[in-house]
Amino acid sequence: MSEVAIGDKTYWVGVNDRTTDLFEGLWPIEGIGVSYNSYIIKDTKNVLIDLAKAIKTDDFFDQVTNIIDLDKLDYIIINHMEPDHTGVIKTLRMVAKNAEILCTPKAVNMLREFYGISDGIRAVKDGETLSTGNHQLQFYHVPFVHWPETMVTFDATTNVLFSCDAFGGYGAFQGTIFDDECTQLDFYTKESLRYYSNIVAKFSNSVLNAINKLSGLTIKTIAPSHGLLWRKDPGKIVQLYKKWAEYSTSGGEKGVTLLYGSMYGNTETMMNAVAQGISDGGIHPEIYDVARTHVSYMLPSLWKNKGVVIGAPTYEVSLFPYMQAALEKAKLKTVKNKKAIYFGSYGWSKGALKKVNEITEGLKWEILEGLEFPGQVTPELYKQGYEMGKRFARSIE
Ligand code: FEO
Repeated sequence: MSEVAIGDKTYWVGVNDRTTDLFEGLWPIEGIGVSYNSYIIKDTKNVLIDLAKAIKTDDFFDQVTNIIDLDKLDYIIINHMEPDHTGVIKTLRMVAKNAEILCTPKAVNMLREFYGISDGIRAVKDGETLSTGNHQLQFYHVPFVHWPETMVTFDATTNVLFSCDAFGGYGAFQGTIFDDECTQLDFYTKESLRYYSNIVAKFSNSVLNAINKLSGLTIKTIAPSHGLLWRKDPGKIVQLYKKWAEYSTSGGEKGVTLLYGSMYGNTETMMNAVAQGISDGGIHPEIYDVARTHVSYMLPSLWKNKGVVIGAPTYEVSLFPYMQAALEKAKLKTVKNKKAIYFGSYGWSKGALKKVNEITEGLKWEILEGLEFPGQVTPELYKQGYEMGKRFARSIE
């Protein structure tokens, strides 16, 4: 995509990345991609805000040099140091010799550690303003959204908030960068929640602090560094992020995520009984086979729903390994304050429920019931599973 004007002398100069298949080397984006949004403000002093991943170096420089001569670049604002936004910086430094890097004090060290860059950098204070001529840029430190060195840049002249990862999401652009021109808002909203649960959720307290800190600003456009720019309804993505961040303490909304794995079909049979009970109890469960689904796709559901059902057999006196991996990722991402139940078949020894309790310890999960059964699902057990599902659904508010 070529550059797009987003405000007075302000341009999007980002790139789509449809080559990377795992974001952060972890999270699948194959088939949908991601954008690295960069911005230029052309003024008495020229400014470049956030960069791109090194894999997109040529595309990035094509975009930027369509708008400015790099000899005339005065400032490079680094809101966040992660290499998806800084990967091209060593090359940029070689060609934009007059540009000064502006970032938080913590990012100064990281620039040296990641890229060996230690000169031509100025740390900006929280709340500091930079006049570029006609534009007044304000810097607000927002630590741990989602790294310790992060900040956002607010253009008080155009009321554009350059928020970097905050308010971003997966999904390369499909012809337009703006919310009001996009006909797939549901897709981008869904991918924003997946991005939030994969990348940002662990730092939900910091997200709420940042939203609170920025609440006094009159924002006309949210310009993140991944995904859509929100100019028609900037409040929408802020409210969504706020709602998702609050799930970290509330445990989420009325809903049930059912994770299951099965070796020979016995636990799967019980899963069907429990799912039927949950459904008859008034909630449509979101069902994931943990052996066949990447955890990236389970995390949004786990983050959003108050209820979690864990159905997995005992494996070598412990938990079915794919379930263990899924729950450990949920723990890493601090999926907290859930209500849960467990069921699963065992062969020669129990052990799965004990492991579930071990993994979820410290996450404030209330394990309401556990049903470990030997071998197959008898008609009596099927009824037990159904009733457990029904009770569980009715306990979720
Ligand atoms: Fe998009 Fe944390 O980098």
